Amino acid sequence: MLGYILPLFTVLLALQPLYARKAPFAMRISCGARDNVHTQPTNTLWFKDYAYTGGIPANATLPSKISPPLKTLRYFPLSEGPENCYNINRVPSGHYSVRIFFGFIAESNIDNEPLFDVSVEGTQIYSLGSGWNNHNDELFVEALLFLMDGSASLCFHSTGHGDPAILSLEILQVDDRAYYFSPQWGQGTILRTDKRLSCGAEKPKFDVDYSGDHWGGDRFWDSITTFEQSSDRTLSTKNSIKKTSISPNFYPEALYQTALISTNNHPDLAYTMDVDPNRNYSIWLHFAEIDTSVTGVGQRVFDILINDDVAFQDVDIVNMSGDANSALVLNKTVAVNGRTLTITMHPTKGSHAIINAIEIFEVIMAESKTLPG
Ligand SMILES: *[C@@H]1O[C@H](CO)[C@@H](O)[C@H](O)[C@H]1NC(C)=O
Ligand SMILES: *[C@@H]1O[C@H](CO)[C@@H](O)[C@H](O)[C@H]1NC(C)=O
Ligand SMILES: *[C@@H]1O[C@H](CO)[C@@H](O)[C@H](O)[C@H]1NC(C)=O
Ligand SMILES: *[C@@H]1O[C@H](CO)[C@@H](O)[C@H](O)[C@H]1NC(C)=O
Repeated sequence: MLGYILPLFTVLLALQPLYARKAPFAMRISCGARDNVHTQPTNTLWFKDYAYTGGIPANATLPSKISPPLKTLRYFPLSEGPENCYNINRVPSGHYSVRIFFGFIAESNIDNEPLFDVSVEGTQIYSLGSGWNNHNDELFVEALLFLMDGSASLCFHSTGHGDPAILSLEILQVDDRAYYFSPQWGQGTILRTDKRLSCGAEKPKFDVDYSGDHWGGDRFWDSITTFEQSSDRTLSTKNSIKKTSISPNFYPEALYQTALISTNNHPDLAYTMDVDPNRNYSIWLHFAEIDTSVTGVGQRVFDILINDDVAFQDVDIVNMSGDANSALVLNKTVAVNGRTLTITMHPTKGSHAIINAIEIFEVIMAESKTLPG
């Protein structure tokens, strides 16, 4: 009898850390809503509107299919005074992903798209650009930062075109070490998401669509099927991928099951995007060798250049991740003086380069927040 009980007890002890880990703190607000809202298909709970310091509730028109399916928003006309904020209290100290989706006031003219600045904890992190509703990754602003004083403060300031209109707020706790990029990382820095691309994927997805670990937040992955017409092709696999969804960033496995790969005519694989000049960018690159024609070490080796500087030399995914179908994540933080950022995978052994996903953050120095009292 004891012979059965003891092993069972040992198993329970071994499982204990899994149960002991608390779920991450998550607060989602449906701005302008009078009641709590549950959205499908994931039955996500959005709290009814609270914690605002001003503004007016209104019905919303969704700018895009990827916006959360909410029916209301809160807008902040200048005439209402300078207090265009949300101050959310009782937020446990920790590391957070804060995301704000923008909306259109129903029956207002799309021509009248609001343009405004967004600040978090007293630091301006973003300024909406005109035509924002035409780009999936401009429908919201998202940033990683530490919230250590029990509250989150988010403010909106019109830049002279329309009234700030906010559809939803999300304050999602993530791993304390998420996106650690160098000793410079920490309470003094904010990482604003600039781009997040799932290469070779047909459709954009959120982490929640991928059943991602909640400690990774609910990242949005835009899909990209080519960097440059006829210079690359997509590749996908149904094989399972090793070393995914691990601390501190918890990437979903499916991210590594699609890729872009270069072609004979075009051995280099290059992604270029526009950036604001004279800023620092933290770049995270994801790889898994999912090409069945590459089975061992030394068969595909490439350099990675960021704006002509070699950031990583002789990257061999199978070697560095330990196997085929195994995830490799590389990160590099660079200063960019010009208006473009180009990431080039240049083969040095084998003739094609490959990449599965790209994340680009702007590194923002946090203003030291005025101390209470
Ligand atoms: C919002 O829409 C509902 C019906 O969907 C309507 O009853 C309500 O009056 C509208 N509110 C405003 C401020 O237009
Ligand atoms: C990012 O890169 C730095 C420098 O190579 C490394 O020390 C750090 O561990 C990396 N971060 C993660 C989360 O892998
Ligand atoms: C970029 O990083 C460098 C080195 O960490 C720092 O000295 C500089 O102030 C940063 N620039 C900006 C615009 O934040
Ligand atoms: C990767 O390359 C290094 C140096 O060439 C070698 O020592 C190591 O064994 C290789 N790892 C694998 C998994 O092949």
